[in-house]
Amino acid sequence: MSFAFGFNDDDISDEEVSQNLPKQDEASTASKVFQNATSGLDPKFLPQIHSLESILSKLVNVRITFDNYITPVGENVTYRRELYDIKHQVMCEDDEDGKQDDVVSNILMGDDNDLDLKRNIYEGGFKSWECSYDVVDYLAQNKDSLNKLHTILELGCGTSLPSCQALLQRITRSEDPIDGFKIILSDFNYEVLRLVTIPNLIIHWASTLDPEFLQELCDTSVEGSDDGPTLRNDEIILSQKLIDRFISDLRNKRIELVFISGSWGQEFLQIIERENIDLVISSETIYSLETLPIVAETVVELVGNGCRALIAAKNLYFGVGGSVAEFVSYIKKKNREDIKIEVEEVNSQLKRSLISIEKV
Ligand SMILES: C[S@@+](CC[C@H](N)C(=O)[O-])C[C@H]1O[C@@H](n2cnc3c(N)ncnc32)[C@H](O)[C@@H]1O
Repeated sequence: MSFAFGFNDDDISDEEVSQNLPKQDEASTASKVFQNATSGLDPKFLPQIHSLESILSKLVNVRITFDNYITPVGENVTYRRELYDIKHQVMCEDDEDGKQDDVVSNILMGDDNDLDLKRNIYEGGFKSWECSYDVVDYLAQNKDSLNKLHTILELGCGTSLPSCQALLQRITRSEDPIDGFKIILSDFNYEVLRLVTIPNLIIHWASTLDPEFLQELCDTSVEGSDDGPTLRNDEIILSQKLIDRFISDLRNKRIELVFISGSWGQEFLQIIERENIDLVISSETIYSLETLPIVAETVVELVGNGCRALIAAKNLYFGVGGSVAEFVSYIKKKNREDIKIEVEEVNSQLKRSLISIEKV
């Protein structure tokens, strides 16, 4: 066997991993979970590609409020659209359309301030989960290798802070954009992509602009009038001017953003099969025993085709059953001699790990 386990923590020993290995029948059941990942789902959760332009057309003139948050371990700056601001947008849109029964808006507007997971409806994409900061730190520390990549895929991106970091690096790098760079962002909920993934990507891009120029781009007033909007430094407006500039900047730097809503599974793999993905990143997606096989199968398939994967997760998800040990054992059970898996624990109180998987 060519698996290399890198646990630093006695809590998750190799011995425990092998005890947790699924037995043959468990493994085939888990594989079936992957094959049937989309069966029984509402058709709106079948995977679909969306262009940046199509999603942005539904965000014109939306004001975005964000915080800036320094990652606790690596001290990298991230920008995150505020949850109350997302709720405000949804409330205004509900008023305009008179549609009160949309599932995501119900979840956002409900009493549940923590936005708990609702299996097969909402899987936690509106808030930034801790392990995403570990991926941000990893990418910030490995700028040189990231610079060499052409296509990355973020699985279950949610607020997409790792992709935002990758975008930021590509935008600010000094070399000419000879090679193209593509980021594919996937999330279960289209509304997550629209309301938080794309706004966060734009805020990170906007952070690289001269503040006066940014103010000009955010101006939605009629030409010639003096009554432009007053913006605080934690706000931007997605004016048509700003959107056009974002799109043209990406084009000039040969950066492409592709969005896929809906569930992972066979159909998802078919959608991305022609992409030459160099790196898959995913944070906090192996939390449950239902989704863990789906992520593992997707990763094994992609790594088998030659890409690398970086999965960030808490060592144990209390109550839902997912864990780093389960994930590693699932992959080990596949008996793929061509795949190497390593686990590095992140220095944190609530134990977290970065799992690196690559072809040998
Ligand atoms: C716990 S959240 C983590 C979000 C983000 N990666 C982070 O770390 O902040 C899990 C994410 O995976 C996505 N997800 C869960 N199951 C999925 C599935 N079957 N297909 C696609 N995305 C899924 C959710 O929509 C959500 O954004």
